[in-house]
Amino acid sequence: METKIDEIADGIYRLSTFIPEVTPDGFTFNQYLVDADEPLMFHLGHRMLFDSVSAAVSTVVPLERLRWLTFGHVEADECGSMNQWLAAAPQATVAQGMIGVMVSIGDLADRPPRPLGGGEVLDLGGKRVRWIDTSHVPHGWEAGIIFEETTGTLLCGDLFTRTGAVDAMSDGDPVGPAAAAEDMFRATCLTPATGPTIRSLADLQPHRLALMHGPVFAGDCAAALHALADDYDVRVQKALTS
Ligand SMILES: [Fe+2]
Ligand SMILES: [Fe+2]
Repeated sequence: METKIDEIADGIYRLSTFIPEVTPDGFTFNQYLVDADEPLMFHLGHRMLFDSVSAAVSTVVPLERLRWLTFGHVEADECGSMNQWLAAAPQATVAQGMIGVMVSIGDLADRPPRPLGGGEVLDLGGKRVRWIDTSHVPHGWEAGIIFEETTGTLLCGDLFTRTGAVDAMSDGDPVGPAAAAEDMFRATCLTPATGPTIRSLADLQPHRLALMHGPVFAGDCAAALHALADDYDVRVQKALTS
């Protein structure tokens, strides 16, 4: 198992592990390291990936310097290794949304987590990350994503999930592959709020979309978010009328 590391924006690193067995054409699991005075991780990965991912992180930042451990929702690929990171990084605190901390993480984490309010900004010293509540988008009551304001990087978690081996960066269409993956996995909650929640992220005017399962998209991000939202609107309508 190999975790590749690429700097995808100034001081933001994509850690990517390709697992061939998960789908017929394989699947990537990515974590992101935001290097700053207070380094932050977004997505922590499965327990089985911890040795590989943490070794890759330590080539950029000593694990003891990690300050924040964040993730989008409670699922093994998001936070399965949370307590391994807490043990390896004594300065680190888990931070997630109010719902996640109240419902699950306050119990699951070996140290008390820090709840983040919707829209709250963590000033990391050189980088600023905004927590955005996206309840049930793509799934999970506690769901949220983060936006790094100084680089305009939207760390968008499972949104735009695609299968297959991919380059670290891409400006190719992210919506077609995401729709094909959604057809396969049916992983996203289809509710009347799904499309509008995704569409609202375009207001951030991100310069790049950092996917958990796929490349970093560096094309027209607002247009991609609108197109993905439109795709989910159609899916919701179909579900209501079928
Ligand atoms: Fe997920
Ligand atoms: Fe995921």
